[in-house]
Amino acid sequence: MQRIFTLNQQELPTRWYNVLADLDRPLDPPLDPRTREPLSPEALTTLFAKMCVEQEASTDRFIDIPAEVQEIYRLWRPTPLYRAVNLERELETPAHIYYKYEGASPTGSHKTNTAVAQAYYNKIEGTKRLTTETGAGQWGSALSFACQALGVDLTVFMVRISYEQKPYRKAMIELYGGEIVPSPSDRTKSGRAILEQDPDSPGSLGIAISEAIEEAVSTGAKYSLGSVLNHVLLHQTVIGQEALSQMELAGEYPDAVVGCVGGGSNFGGLALPVFHDAKERGRRVDFIAAEPTACPTMTKGDVRYDFGDEAELTPLLRMHTLGHKFVPPPIHAGGLRYNGMAPIITRLVEDGVVRPVAFDQVDVFASAVLFARVEGIIPAPETAHAVHAAVELARDCARRDEKKVILIGFSGHGYFDMSAYTAYLAGRLVRTS
Ligand SMILES: Cc1ncc(COP(=O)(O)O)c(C=O)c1O
Repeated sequence: MQRIFTLNQQELPTRWYNVLADLDRPLDPPLDPRTREPLSPEALTTLFAKMCVEQEASTDRFIDIPAEVQEIYRLWRPTPLYRAVNLERELETPAHIYYKYEGASPTGSHKTNTAVAQAYYNKIEGTKRLTTETGAGQWGSALSFACQALGVDLTVFMVRISYEQKPYRKAMIELYGGEIVPSPSDRTKSGRAILEQDPDSPGSLGIAISEAIEEAVSTGAKYSLGSVLNHVLLHQTVIGQEALSQMELAGEYPDAVVGCVGGGSNFGGLALPVFHDAKERGRRVDFIAAEPTACPTMTKGDVRYDFGDEAELTPLLRMHTLGHKFVPPPIHAGGLRYNGMAPIITRLVEDGVVRPVAFDQVDVFASAVLFARVEGIIPAPETAHAVHAAVELARDCARRDEKKVILIGFSGHGYFDMSAYTAYLAGRLVRTS
């Protein structure tokens, strides 16, 4: 039975897909927190590359991928689509399970897809240095790789708990030439304010974003965000476009698309092109977005305008939020510890297109270990949420004797997350729900 579906390098998508062209009403705009008026594009370009700001509001259905970005993508793209035949057998399910493997990128996750694009636009616009934050370290290492490839300097504020749990991610960021600062730090006003209240703060993405923005604004650098914003989801749509071609090679169409959600970028990257394609074909697809019960943004959060960071430096975005002061428990899926959500994903949840689900990390790791034992690849703790959602769905198919085709967004591998697996195998992983 064929297990790997590959495209050749000439089949790399040459355009990104922009879902803003296909929403039945426009997204609510980002607001200036002082006036609560829609923010001007000029205000955003003090922080972000002009081209990214333009893409943020564009309603063109397709946007060309610059040739130089395609050239760098070709270092690892198109990524493979696997059929998880062994997992199907193990679960004794009639479901067919596929996974789109973004762990094949140089730094091990989907994050490189937008990192290369953002570093490229900054480079051609003359940016010398970027700042960013990273949770699990996947985004920081992806941007460090991209900045190295394009000759831009980088400073990364890494959430302290991940900095301590993942020394090899830190080493990787430094290997590619990035500077790394554990967050909260005493380098910024926002970091110092947190440390005064709690010198042992584990940090959070919200706090690290505040520090990265403050550092950019105060030093004349630009800032780069690895999730949440429309242009980030746009850059990830190479995943879904490739997956659709690969599913065609497999002669199947997904009934369910399952992904994990931190800020929404890998899930959006896979789901949005399928959403568009399914609409054109008049097909129904169940889009399932998995998050941790420890940070239940979509399943327990409110939908309202909120800041994206702790120190209230970002524009206000209308999104699912747990409140910008929320510091999630230090679960191992550091990349899912974010209080907010991509406004695009919030809209699709509100419209009933996307179905959010939440799981405890202990159950998630049980499925990740099962997956690794039968399929070989070890999922990142974030990705493990998607794997668990798919395992649950496939078990449900077994109970109902239903042959569904399930497509998993496999956002990254977990080879730098062995301390989390060690804790799970030793029975030391705690339930947070
Ligand atoms: C492997 C992996 N998957 C998923 C995520 C969650 O981010 P997003 O929802 O933007 O895909 C992260 C974030 O760091 C990650 O590293």
